[in-house]
Amino acid sequence: MKELKEKIINEGSVLSDTVLKVDSFLNHQLDPELMKLAGEEIAARFKDTGITKILTIESSGIAPAFMAGLTLGVPVIFARKRKSLTLNNHLYVAEVTSFTKKETNEICVSKDFIHADDKLLVIDDFLANGQAVLGLMDIIDQAGASSVGVGIVIEKGFQDGGRMLREKGIRVESLAILKSLENGTVSFLEEELV
Ligand code: G4P
Ligand code: NA
Ligand code: NA
Repeated sequence: MKELKEKIINEGSVLSDTVLKVDSFLNHQLDPELMKLAGEEIAARFKDTGITKILTIESSGIAPAFMAGLTLGVPVIFARKRKSLTLNNHLYVAEVTSFTKKETNEICVSKDFIHADDKLLVIDDFLANGQAVLGLMDIIDQAGASSVGVGIVIEKGFQDGGRMLREKGIRVESLAILKSLENGTVSFLEEELV
């Protein structure tokens, strides 16, 4: 997506060979116009797949997921990062291990909001190692529901998540795929330069 790539070039900062900071439009301050375009583009790529709900994870997945939900006319659920171990049988819970942060967290969704007849589109802001997406897929499985695929705003093409998910047969659509962040410079995958 051209507008997104321009924004990354103009406002993103390369923190290291593996981390891109995009706090001015995606991870802290939000650019509503860009989020609207991102949500619409993800929605367009998955139109006619029979989506009944969108599933994302707090906090930075919510903005693009919300705009996609508005476009498709379906509810948006965000998995919560569980902060207490309070026993609650009415939750689907999955474990997500972050390689970046070297910690494991539980994410959860109330059983009230995903049912066996739901077809979910998973959306997230970043795809790195894919562990957050796997956790969301685990919750969809627990509910006996199905997934039409995954929409991502920024995929880090030099990390393993995208390949791992696509090898499992999961459809992954990313609006920008980073090829490299080496030497402080952002480069995108060739076929994604449109
Ligand atoms: P994974 O789910 O793909 O395995 O990702 P990982 O554990 O590596 O990511 C942990 C957190 O770091 C996630 O945010 C993810 O979106 C974010 N992240 C990963 N790589 C980058 C990067 O290069 N730049 C930025 N800005 N973020 C990155 P989170 O902890 O869930 O937080 P939130 O942003 O949703 O609140
Ligand atoms: Na994030
Ligand atoms: Na996220």
